[in-house]
Amino acid sequence: MNILKFRSDEELNEAGASIITGLVQTNPKAVLGLATGGTPVGIYRRIVETYRKGMVSFKSVTTFNLDEYVGIPKDHPESYHSYMKRHLFDHVDLQPENTHIPDGNAPDLEAECARYDRLLEKAGRIDLQLLGIGHNGHIGFNEPGGALCGGTHVVRLREETRQANARFFNSIDEVPTHALTMGVGTILKAKMILLVVRGADKAEIVHRALTGPITTECPASLLQTHANVVVLLDSESGRLFP
Ligand code: PGA
Repeated sequence: MNILKFRSDEELNEAGASIITGLVQTNPKAVLGLATGGTPVGIYRRIVETYRKGMVSFKSVTTFNLDEYVGIPKDHPESYHSYMKRHLFDHVDLQPENTHIPDGNAPDLEAECARYDRLLEKAGRIDLQLLGIGHNGHIGFNEPGGALCGGTHVVRLREETRQANARFFNSIDEVPTHALTMGVGTILKAKMILLVVRGADKAEIVHRALTGPITTECPASLLQTHANVVVLLDSESGRLFP
C-alpha cells in the first residue's frame, strides 16, 4: 500500500487528478469507478482544468459511480446524478451513454442492482476505483456490520452516515434513509484503488482501517487485502501516520 501525505489541499488535488488523468492518457478506454461526497470535489476540479488545457480526453472512458440515494429525484441538487454533472460530467467529453450511476428511483430496486452488476460485468474490471471513507469506516455506502455484500445492493444508511451527510441538505429529515451501493466484492476487484481522505475527523478511522484488524465492522479495512492501493491523505487526516 502506497500511503502519501500532502501538506496542502492543492497538492493533494493535483496528485489525485494526475493519477486519474495519467491513467486515461495511457489507457483512453479506461473504466473508472467514481465517488461522490466532499472529498473528491477538488480532484474533479483539477481534472476539469487538465481537460480544458487539452491534455486528456474522456471520450472513450467508461465510468461507474459507487452509489446513489434511494427516493430523491435524479434532478435533486444532492442526488449523486446531479453531483456528477455539476463536478465532472458537464465539463468534460465523457459520453453520457458511457457514464453509469445506479438508479435510486427504479420501481424495482433489486432488479436495478442486478442490472448495475450486469453492466459492471460487461465492462470488465474497473481500472481505477476512487474512494472516500466514512467516519464509521464505510466505503461506498457499505456500512459496518456483521456481514458485507459482494455485489450492488440496497442499504439502510446508518444514523451517523445520515448525520454526516445532513450538511448537504436543509435538515436531517431530508437525508434519504436508503441507498444503492456497489458491493465490496466489486470494489476489491478493481485493478487499482485510490483512497482519498481529508480532515482531522478522519485521522482515527483511516489509521484503524489501514493498520488495524481486517473486519466487516470497518469495511475500509478490507482494502488491506488489495494489492494495489494508493492512499492520499492531507496532513490532518494523516496525523497518525509517520
Ligand atoms: P465525504 O464522504 O467525502 O463527504 O467525507 C466520504 C464517504 O462517506 O465515503
